[in-house]
Amino acid sequence: MSTVTSSNETPISLTRTRAPHARPADASLSFGKVFTDHMFLMNYVEGKGWHDPRVVPYAPLTIDPATSVLHYGQAVFDGLKAFRGTDGTIRLFRAQRHAERLNKSCAALCIPELDAGLVRRSFEAIVAADHEWVPSTPGTSLYIRPTVIATDVMLGVHPAHSYTYFVICSPVGAYYKEGVKPVRILATDKHVRAVQGGLGEAKTAANYAASLSAQQEAERQGYTQVLWLDGVERRYIDEVGTMNIMMRIGDEVITPPLAGTILDGVTRNSILTLLRDWGLRVSERRISIDEVMQAGRDGMLREMWGTGTAAVVSPVGELGYKGEKISIGNGQTGTLTKKLYDAIIAIQYGTAPDTHGWTSTVQVPQVA
Ligand code: COI
Repeated sequence: MSTVTSSNETPISLTRTRAPHARPADASLSFGKVFTDHMFLMNYVEGKGWHDPRVVPYAPLTIDPATSVLHYGQAVFDGLKAFRGTDGTIRLFRAQRHAERLNKSCAALCIPELDAGLVRRSFEAIVAADHEWVPSTPGTSLYIRPTVIATDVMLGVHPAHSYTYFVICSPVGAYYKEGVKPVRILATDKHVRAVQGGLGEAKTAANYAASLSAQQEAERQGYTQVLWLDGVERRYIDEVGTMNIMMRIGDEVITPPLAGTILDGVTRNSILTLLRDWGLRVSERRISIDEVMQAGRDGMLREMWGTGTAAVVSPVGELGYKGEKISIGNGQTGTLTKKLYDAIIAIQYGTAPDTHGWTSTVQVPQVA
């Protein structure tokens, strides 16, 4: 066992696996099916706080069947990526913002706050331990999944007194089988993902559970994702699938505001920053499905795309609603969508200047 630390930071211990796995070829990678050799663990107990940060060999968690997270879903997660640039450097994209967002999700579910600096170091420590797993082919990356679960063994409904924080990593390719090709999305006024005052802005298991039956129905109808409408009037656009949504109507780029029901996407924030850097007209405002469908009929709906860590920018080629189908940009990826995807990817892989300081380098251990 060794420790990964500098100055007076909390030490993170490292126990290396004795049975490393064969790594998959980059060309075989899809999303989240293969996991690396190590994981990060840290525990919380009331009175003691978060303690014992460590990198250990990847292994199943052993938990009692009465563990509260299994019954009441007191769980949060986040997701970020490490990229291997053409220069061999491994970069994390917006690690600090992801660490801070994990804490916001924790607050929404009564989970005790973590030290955001330590969370960020947990990302660096696990990627350093598994640096050989960071793929290098363009379009691939190492997806990092930090998660917190309630671990009290009890069936009473109450915030837990003990938690486990873990981080696992998965070498990934494209999130959708379509790759970065346009997807078809279906707006639903039958299912609801979140309402104000609920958990919509937290990255928590419950939101994903709430999305499944609508997603299944959309797939049955030949669509890739659901376009979520607000839970009250079922009229205003919220999100698409697990991503934030943006559209270009005429010369305005519109995205729904952060008003309590949608995730404060890190990619959403990065894209809005780039659009404003480029001097484009950007509105964070409520937009109804009727306005979007009308813009589509009028030929003004020029582009639409989803934004998220997993897929980065996902063009939308067709929108369905109440039996009507609108083709967007003749089903092709729009010029702005492509420009945004390329710009983000270039920063992530280190081929364009990182003028906003979004990336951080992971120091890889030197083997003597
Ligand atoms: C993302 O876009 O990064 C997501 O949230 C998808 C993830 C749940 C797989």
